Amino acid sequence: MDNIMVIGAAGQIGSELVTELRKIYGSDHVFATDIKQAPPDIMQGGPFQVLDVMDDKQLIHFIIRNKINQIYHLAAVLSGNAEKLPTQAWRINMDSLMNILEVAKMVEEVKKVFWPSSIAVFGPSTPRNHTPQLTIREPITVYGISKLAGEQWCDYYFQRFGVDVRSLRYPGLISYKTEAGGGTTDYAVEIFYDAIRHGSYECFLAKDTALPFLFMPDAIRATIQLMESERSRLSVHSSYNIGGMSFTPAKLHREIKKHIPNLSIRYKHDFRQAIADSWPQSVDDSFARADWGFEQSYDLEKMTGIMLKEIQKKLK
Ligand code: SER
Repeated sequence: MDNIMVIGAAGQIGSELVTELRKIYGSDHVFATDIKQAPPDIMQGGPFQVLDVMDDKQLIHFIIRNKINQIYHLAAVLSGNAEKLPTQAWRINMDSLMNILEVAKMVEEVKKVFWPSSIAVFGPSTPRNHTPQLTIREPITVYGISKLAGEQWCDYYFQRFGVDVRSLRYPGLISYKTEAGGGTTDYAVEIFYDAIRHGSYECFLAKDTALPFLFMPDAIRATIQLMESERSRLSVHSSYNIGGMSFTPAKLHREIKKHIPNLSIRYKHDFRQAIADSWPQSVDDSFARADWGFEQSYDLEKMTGIMLKEIQKKLK
C-alpha cells in the first residue's frame, strides 16, 4: 500500500481530501501536514505533522522517514491575497512547487505528485466561454502567473526527468467543512454563511459575473480519480481543465432564496471584480472526460441544498 503525504491538510481542499484518502488507503498510510494546526479530525484521525514545505531539508527528511510514495501539494496563496503581497505570494507558490518537484526527482520511492492549477492561468485574451484545454494563457494576476509557470514546470519535469506529476485547473470550489481564504470565487461560499447567520450578504462581485464552479465532493473524486488513472491514458502533462457548473451571484442568490426567501443581497464590487472579469465563464473539460472519465454529479440545485443543510448544522 502506498504512503501518501498531503501538504496543506488544514486548507479548503486538504481537509476534505485527507478524510477521503484515509477511507481509501487506511488512516496509517495518509500523512497530513500543514504549516499550521489542522481541524481536530485531521490531526487525530491519522498521522499529522506541522511542516513548512518551504524548508526543503525538513521536507526531504519527512518524505524519506515516512517512506512516502505519493504527494498531494495543496499549499498556496490564492488570487485575492496574492495581489496584496505579490512577491511573497510568488515565492511561496513557486518555491514550494520547485521543492516538491526536486524531491520527486531525487527520491525514487516518490512515484506520483498532485499539484493544483486553476482557471487563473487564463486571462482577458482567452475565449471566455467553454474555454478550450489548449488556448491562450495570459494571466493578469500574480496567482495566475504562478500557476501558469507551475504548469510549465510540471510539464518540464515530466518530459525531462520522468517525474509523474498530475494536475487539475480547478474552477471555484464550494464546500462547507473549511472556508476558503483569499480567493476570488470565495463569495460563493461566504454567501451561505451570511444567508444563515444574517439573512443578508454583501457581494464583492457584480451580479452578472459568471464563473465556473465545482462542489467539493466532485473535486475530491476527480482528484483521486486522476491520481489513480493509468499514466498511459493521460495526454495532458501541464494541467487538465475541469468545468462543473457556471453561474453568477444573481443566479446563486435566486437558488438560495428558494430555501431562505428573505435573503437580501447588496452588490459592492472590489478589486476582485477585475480578476473575475479576466477568467473563463465556463470551461471545456472534454480532455478530462475522454482521458480519465471525469464526471460531475452535483448541479447548482443539489449543491445549494446540501450547503445550507450542512452549514446550518455546523452553526447550531
Ligand atoms: N478559487 C481560486 C481563487 O479564487 C481560483 O483558483 O483564487
